[in-house]
Amino acid sequence: MRRSLVIAYIWADMTLSTTTGFRLLPGRLDAAAQARLRDEVLARAARAPFVTQVTPGGRPMSVRTTSFGALGWTTDRRGYRYEPHHPQTGEAWPDIPEVLLDLWAELADPATPPDACLVNFYGPQARMSLHQDRDEADFRFPVLSVSLGDTAVFRLGGARRGDPTRTLKLASGDVCLLAGEARLFHHGVDRILAGSSSLIPGGGRINLTLRRAAP
Ligand code: SIN
Ligand code: FE2
Repeated sequence: MRRSLVIAYIWADMTLSTTTGFRLLPGRLDAAAQARLRDEVLARAARAPFVTQVTPGGRPMSVRTTSFGALGWTTDRRGYRYEPHHPQTGEAWPDIPEVLLDLWAELADPATPPDACLVNFYGPQARMSLHQDRDEADFRFPVLSVSLGDTAVFRLGGARRGDPTRTLKLASGDVCLLAGEARLFHHGVDRILAGSSSLIPGGGRINLTLRRAAP
């Protein structure tokens, strides 16, 4: 890549993060931390299984989801919302792994812990269309995302639906933060680079997003 182009990219990244509150921390979790977190997530998913949820319009999502914490993000014919129980088992959600609570305290808000952690599982064909995270009570709290397994081609736009978008890759161990103005930026996942990681048995990507759902 040309040097001027590299500088332009770095400048664009710095501008994006300093002006908007979007932060990307590539490789924030090292290989050992990723493996530990994978084990903690899969152990919890054995109790609170990943399920295919449907949108209010009745379309099944291509990601399979579960949640940790007091509240779990839920969608069905009745709409998008947070619920205290798993839709199939009726049990409370498992607790949020300590390493995620620590990341939130360090990067998001040391005073108020997250009460919801949405866990998305992406198989090779899964994707997520451009959306805003707006089912939470108070947008002053950021959304903190942790990626495990296969790399995702992540799309980031702006506050308005028609704003320009750009793509960036989210690899295993990457952490990103949607805070400040970027809290309501549109985002989605165009595709998964299947086979790019061997972290998850059988392949795939797990994305964990920590949120403060209740006021
Ligand atoms: C989400 O917006 O819920 C997930 C984003 C991601 O998978 O990186
Ligand atoms: Fe989202």
